[in-house]
Amino acid sequence: MKKIIVAIDGYSSCGKSTIAKALASYAGYTYVDTGAMYRAIALYTLRNNLTDDAAIIAALPQIEVGFVLANGAQHVTLNGEDVEPFIRTLEVGNTASRVSAIKEVRAFLVAQQQKMGVSKGIVMDGRDIGTVVFPQAELKLFLTASPEVRAQRRFDELVAKGEKPNFDAVLADVNDRDYRDTHRAESPLRQAEDAIVVDNSFMTREQQMELIYKLFNDTLDKLV
Ligand code: DC
Repeated sequence: MKKIIVAIDGYSSCGKSTIAKALASYAGYTYVDTGAMYRAIALYTLRNNLTDDAAIIAALPQIEVGFVLANGAQHVTLNGEDVEPFIRTLEVGNTASRVSAIKEVRAFLVAQQQKMGVSKGIVMDGRDIGTVVFPQAELKLFLTASPEVRAQRRFDELVAKGEKPNFDAVLADVNDRDYRDTHRAESPLRQAEDAIVVDNSFMTREQQMELIYKLFNDTLDKLV
């Protein structure tokens, strides 16, 4: 069976990783969460108090980002350490948004991401997968949901983790991050011309997956 590359882009907290993981498991493909890679670099900069771009760029040769399987789930590693437990905070997310605007950081991670896709059979999610990392991807999805719906999802996630978030602050953060992701000079988040838009504001997980499995199977059918 021919293998394809599935590129999933979209705003933060619109469920990209849940969908990408489910599709990868359905297809028997490898899942790559590129946001986690930017978050790992962000964690490195926070731990080492690197605040200016030049210092972050100079540190790149000392940074190795990878993945390991831990209890059946994929975890991101930073210089060999499983850092999954530390990268899902608001602070790391905001720092990731900032470091991901640095051209050299993007080039560093994009090169690694492209290598992961050489044998296809991959579902990768992020912001620039269909536009920069794999413009040749056979299936490109662009996920979106309203800022309020996404803020509520993030709010619920933070509460589930034992944090005590303020909804208005979470919503402001979602809007700020959208602005930064779509307005940065380097590879801003935008929909690839040939991407299929999925607005999941009012879709159940089952409805979404049904649609996405269909799009995946239709893409495979067109190849043979
Ligand atoms: O998807 P996420 O929230 O884990 O991503 C963290 C940050 O990294 C987010 O602000 C956007 C950035 N990012 C990016 O610029 N390009 C990607 N391919 C993935 C994430």
